[in-house]
Amino acid sequence: MKHKKLTKNDAPKNITDNEKVLSENDFIVSKTDPKGVITYGNRIFIDISGYKKNEIIGANHNLIRHPFMPKIAFKMVWELISQKKEFFGFVKNLSKDGGFYWVFAYITADLDAKGNILGYTSVRRKAPTHAIEEIISLYKLLNDAENRGGINASQILLNEYLNDNKTTYEKFVHQLQTGAFA
Ligand SMILES: Cc1cc2nc3c(=O)[nH]c(=O)nc-3n(C[C@H](O)[C@H](O)[C@H](O)COP(=O)(O)O)c2cc1C
Repeated sequence: MKHKKLTKNDAPKNITDNEKVLSENDFIVSKTDPKGVITYGNRIFIDISGYKKNEIIGANHNLIRHPFMPKIAFKMVWELISQKKEFFGFVKNLSKDGGFYWVFAYITADLDAKGNILGYTSVRRKAPTHAIEEIISLYKLLNDAENRGGINASQILLNEYLNDNKTTYEKFVHQLQTGAFA
């Protein structure tokens, strides 16, 4: 019998404070089709997700979406990658047991020789503690803004935050990852 494809509606409802921390040398890799349905995951992606390989392959990538993540983050992801641009950012992900893990993620389109989008690939590594602390306070502000005024409000807030810090989104995330943002 064919299994129903899993989506975030099938994700655990019992969210916990159980954190999984990546090792310095870990790389988490996944690939999707053009709609964000997972077509490949390396061993560490499958292990940390807590799902079985046949549960996670074929599932929508939002299966591991953590409710703490602001909507604006994924709006930026899809705007960039669907235009064949690269996304870099900090993502809190949800495991099957309700626990979480933070990553520094890179997502980009896979193109054929004519430049058509075949799907997408993401590679993620450990996010430094200081970056996670900074990003948690920003994401809290963005979530509050979204609760008050939706994604438009968080877009305005993000722009103000970047302007106040005299930076751009790209510079900000790279400075956080390298420790240069203080
Ligand atoms: C290659 C690729 C990797 C992705 N990795 C993640 C991820 O690790 N965590 C996540 O929450 N969303 C990831 N996404 C974004 C999801 O497709 C989705 O936009 C996000 O989970 C929000 O889903 P929702 O708008 O249905 O809530 C990825 C998308 C692509 C194309």
